Amino acid sequence: MLFQTTQRILLGPGTFSRLGTEAARLGARRVLLVSDPGLVTAGLPARAAEILSGSGLSITLHTDVEPDPGIETALAAARAAIAADADLVVGLGGGSAMDVAKVAAIASVNGLDLALMFGTDLVPRPGLPTILVPTTAGTGSEVTPISILSDHTEKLKKGIVSPYLLPATAIVDAELTVGVPPAVTAASGMDALLHAVEAFTSRNASPMSDLFATKAISLISANLRTAYADGSNIRARAAMSEGSMLAGIAFANAGVTAVHAFAYPIGAEFHIPHGVANSIMMGPVLAFNAIGNLDRFGTVATALGADTNGLSSREAAMKALAMMEELADDVGVPRRLAPFGVTADDIPRLSASVMTVTRLLANNPRRLTVDDAERLYRAVL
Ligand SMILES: NC(=O)c1ccc[n+]([C@@H]2O[C@H](COP(=O)([O-])OP(=O)(O)OC[C@H]3O[C@@H](n4cnc5c(N)ncnc54)[C@H](O)[C@@H]3O)[C@@H](O)[C@H]2O)c1
Ligand SMILES: [Fe+2]
Repeated sequence: MLFQTTQRILLGPGTFSRLGTEAARLGARRVLLVSDPGLVTAGLPARAAEILSGSGLSITLHTDVEPDPGIETALAAARAAIAADADLVVGLGGGSAMDVAKVAAIASVNGLDLALMFGTDLVPRPGLPTILVPTTAGTGSEVTPISILSDHTEKLKKGIVSPYLLPATAIVDAELTVGVPPAVTAASGMDALLHAVEAFTSRNASPMSDLFATKAISLISANLRTAYADGSNIRARAAMSEGSMLAGIAFANAGVTAVHAFAYPIGAEFHIPHGVANSIMMGPVLAFNAIGNLDRFGTVATALGADTNGLSSREAAMKALAMMEELADDVGVPRRLAPFGVTADDIPRLSASVMTVTRLLANNPRRLTVDDAERLYRAVL
């Protein structure tokens, strides 16, 4: 078993104020601050710049990042880091801004030919140090050695996986998530829940990843409805931020499975937000997977808060799936593909694409054929 995570994690409301001292602790002088336009509107990069300059650092702000960012976006951020002669990259945002910050930090040291780095352990050297500050409770990118970029030419989402992508420091402050709009709260929260459930049911699950996964499932399932209904509820927001980070630690080590594999092609081609794409695929894919490990799926029901006394493991597993679907419905996350423009004609191409996501399918508790993939996409058309 290998277990790795971010070396230094500051967790809790108010920790954002320590960004400047954490940057100074790393010996930084010139910071590239990566964020996105939605966060500029929310005023968060301006607050980060104020805190950093209070610690005597000079800041170059780079906010040209779109949701589900493309390869070109990450390259532009790397060029900005080089031009600014940055010695630290701070990623402030959801998974999109954090993933771009992570790639900017490695590419500014290893060169801009990202094609050489997609895959596992292909980044030659450590990059610039990073501090990652999530503003959604979803991806857990602040604790994962992963960065996901969209390849618009091949219509695929591609991952760079390397321990050099782990940040030096993560600052997880739920106060930053208070302004997240309800639809983003819902979609990113479902993404986090699926990280935990897929990590727990992965073939690579370990006793350590299980600890993080089960705690994450409990925190997220008990708090997502409240965070969605009342974004200013700091207790629910804090539980969601903690849960999404714990889910990130779980899947960084155990991996995610076929739900994420099915979400990638539809995300890349039809621009369905990542958490929505996962929620759409969740029902049929987890029902398909469940017989691969009924005991584990049954334990998911317990972590979700169900009373499974007297239930068979199959009944408990089905209870878990029903509870997750109820949660997605309560927070208004779509569960069909057709409204996003996907038609029956697209399914053979999307299914072929799923079969190429071997990095995730290798973790899946049930083997899957291209015919299965077509059937599972059809089930949610
Ligand atoms: N690296 C990883 O381990 C990992 C894991 C899962 C997903 N991802 C990737 O992360 C991306 C999705 O990230 P996400 O779900 O966090 O969404 P996101 O980063 O794309 O953000 C979604 C929207 O919410 C806005 N927003 C974010 N925080 C806000 C705040 N506090 N106030 C107001 N608006 C705010 C952003 O401006 C943006 O418009 C995808 O590209 C996905 O593939 C990465
Ligand atoms: Fe995800």
